Amino acid sequence: MKRTSSRHLALLALVGVCAGALSLAARGQNPGVRAALMREKLEHSQRILDALTREDFPEVAKHASALKALSLAADWDDPKSPKPFRYDMQALEFQNLAEELADKADARNLDGATLTYLQLTAKCVSCHSNIRKAKKSAKPAP
Ligand code: HEC
Repeated sequence: MKRTSSRHLALLALVGVCAGALSLAARGQNPGVRAALMREKLEHSQRILDALTREDFPEVAKHASALKALSLAADWDDPKSPKPFRYDMQALEFQNLAEELADKADARNLDGATLTYLQLTAKCVSCHSNIRKAKKSAKPAP
């Protein structure tokens, strides 16, 4: 593990606990909480763009780590449609990119962090597109 400062670890642990609690609530079929969990992803990614434009590297790293924790906590849990093709692989790639983004922000590498951010947001779009395809091809319940 590259980032070993105890403050960072405490923050990661906190984010992990929050995301875990939200995820458990989401699994309890509470659509309001589930939607809130998902909208958090959008908010973190927007904050990253904001921080990149200000070259606020600690803020970039913070929200990238939060995105990774959220992605780890959220899994495919829709019983009405099949898990999209290679869903776990896409989630893993997303988590790896989030970690790479945090590392590049820690290294104060603006160009590298910007490129990784673009790759990360492209994953948002492609995973969602695959989810829509899977839902379309799912047969309606008898
Ligand atoms: C590995 C797959 C995957 C990736 C990557 C991913 N998501 Fe999602 N996202 C999901 C799933 C699954 C849902 C729930 C879809 C559903 O229930 O139909 C979802 C739902 C959402 C929603 C809808 C919330 C609502 O109100 O219904 C938003 C917004 C969202 N994601 C934002 C993002 C953003 C922003 C990113 C990138 C930073 C991202 N997602 C990356 C899988 C992913």
